[in-house]
Amino acid sequence: MSTVTPVSTNTSQQVVRKKVTTLTFRQKKERGEAITMLTAYDYPTAMAMDKAGVDSILVGDSLAMVVLGYENTLPVTMDEMLHHARAVARGAKSAMLVGDMPFMSYQISVEEAVRNAGRFLQNGGMDAVKLEGGRERADAVRAIVGAGIPVMGHLGLTPQSVHQLGGFRAQGKTASAAKRLFEDAKILEEAGAFSLVLEAVPAKLAEYISKQISIPTIGIGAGAGCDGQVLVTHDLLGLFERFTPKFVKRFANFHAEMNKAFTDYIDDVESKRFPAVEHTVEMTDEEWKEFIK
Ligand code: KIV
Repeated sequence: MSTVTPVSTNTSQQVVRKKVTTLTFRQKKERGEAITMLTAYDYPTAMAMDKAGVDSILVGDSLAMVVLGYENTLPVTMDEMLHHARAVARGAKSAMLVGDMPFMSYQISVEEAVRNAGRFLQNGGMDAVKLEGGRERADAVRAIVGAGIPVMGHLGLTPQSVHQLGGFRAQGKTASAAKRLFEDAKILEEAGAFSLVLEAVPAKLAEYISKQISIPTIGIGAGAGCDGQVLVTHDLLGLFERFTPKFVKRFANFHAEMNKAFTDYIDDVESKRFPAVEHTVEMTDEEWKEFIK
């Protein structure tokens, strides 16, 4: 149960959570309360997780793989990200909404990075943006933050660099790689990032970094020592069948559920059990007689 997010009541007596902000993130870290984050790409999912009380929703570029069926995250565009961001923003009113900057939307120049980050807030309904990389992105982070846009960093396994990393592999496993990763975390903190995703890094290292920096770390495959956790929702729900990373815990098996619902539907239609009387619109006998006379 979330203990941090204060609630208020609107006029129709419906419980409304107070909006989660970067300040909430900071306070949760200070109080040692775990921050919860999930990915969403559409209106009903965002609505359900907002209602469940998640602190933050990431419109992740994992969209490319788990929704659009690409091999990796590289093909997804700014326009596609914004399309899904708007749907999520219509569904979630309390969680802090983070738009994931897609490949090539922030790497070319600092100016383009600021412009595209701004589009997430102006045209996508997001509250913050996330981007991948450490020291090489410090200028972009500084400039985006300077424009008044909160930035979440992302270190460790950075999927947009899949070709450079030689695959989706854990990072920071040697002393020198760990040292570089820790330095990058401090650089992002100094550049003004409000939070940091640590993906697929050794738990010891993630815990060490979390203790050494003042901004909250959000782990995915980085152990329990982070200040919060994020999962790709399609992994958590068992909706994405192609592969499941070792660090994912499945909380449901929606792929099997969907498969059953679809085969039941086909069966019902073919055997004429559906639609039944209760699914059918009727007209009065008088109107019918009038019609056929
Ligand atoms: O795109 C995404 O879903 C992400 C999470 C894995 C953090 O970046």
